[in-house]
Amino acid sequence: MLKRAAAIAGVLVLTISGVATAATHQPGQDRTDRSLIVGGTLAALSEAPWAIALTSTRSSDSSGRWCGGALVRPNKVLTAAHCMTKPIGTYTAVQGRAELLDTRGGRTSGISNVWIHPGYDTKLNRNDFAVLTLSTPITGVPLIALETNPKADRKGAVPTVFGWGDTQNTGPSDTFHKLAVPDLGDATCLGNPEYVGNGYAAANNICAGYLNGGRDACQGDSGGPLVLNGRLLGTVSWGKGCAEKGYPGVYAEIAPAAKALKAQFTQ
Ligand code: ARG
Repeated sequence: MLKRAAAIAGVLVLTISGVATAATHQPGQDRTDRSLIVGGTLAALSEAPWAIALTSTRSSDSSGRWCGGALVRPNKVLTAAHCMTKPIGTYTAVQGRAELLDTRGGRTSGISNVWIHPGYDTKLNRNDFAVLTLSTPITGVPLIALETNPKADRKGAVPTVFGWGDTQNTGPSDTFHKLAVPDLGDATCLGNPEYVGNGYAAANNICAGYLNGGRDACQGDSGGPLVLNGRLLGTVSWGKGCAEKGYPGVYAEIAPAAKALKAQFTQ
C-alpha cells in the first residue's frame, strides 16, 4: 500500500515540477538578503509550537529537510500526500527546532504509519493530505485545530504560512520562518489557465500569496501549515516555481476534508 502510494506521489511531483520549470523567478521589490521562505521573516518556535519539520535521510538537502507538517494530536502529524515518496523508515518528525542543522534542540520521532487521503488525486492535485502516526508521541506541546468552516477561505483574509523551505538563495533555508499570505480568492487562481490545467478547484484549494511575486512558500515547505485565527486553514501544496509574478501559492483546503482527516486522528 505504501509502495503504491509512493509511486502515485512520485507522479504528482513530476506533474508539479513540469508546471514548476517554465518561467524564471521574478524577485519582488521588497525582497532582501535576509528574507526567508521566499520573502518572509524568521518565526519564533513559540508562535507555532505545533509546526513540524519532516526530514528524510534520502533528502538531497544536507539538513535532511524534506517537508513541513502540523502536530494535530500528540501522535499525529498532518502533511501533504505528495511528500510521501520515500520509504517510511527514512522519515523523522522534528518539533521545536528552529535551525535544522543544529540538532541539539527540539524533539524527534520516527513514523510508524502513513495514511494517504483516499481522494488524493495526482492528476488534479486534489486532497493532497497525509496523516502520519508518530512512533514516539510528542506530548506537552500545543496542538493545532483544523478549520472546519469552508467559508474561512475568503478573499481578503490574511493567513500565515510557516516552514523551513527554500528561500531561493535569499536567506538560510533550513531555518524556521513565516510569511503572511493574503487569500486572493479562488477566482484569481481560476483565472490562470495553467492553474486550472493543474487542477485548481475552488472547493478544495486556497489561492494565496502575492500576484507581483517575491513572497511565497517554496520547495520544502510542502505539507506545512497555513494558519488563520489559530486554526489550520490549509497546507502547502503546489505552485508554479516559487514567488513568480502571476503565480501565487496553492494550498490544500482543510475544511472540506476535515471530517475524513479527523477520523484518522483517533486511529
Ligand atoms: N511542492 C512543494 C514542496 O514539495 C511546495 C510547493 C509550494 N509552492 C509554492 N510556490 N507555493 O515542497
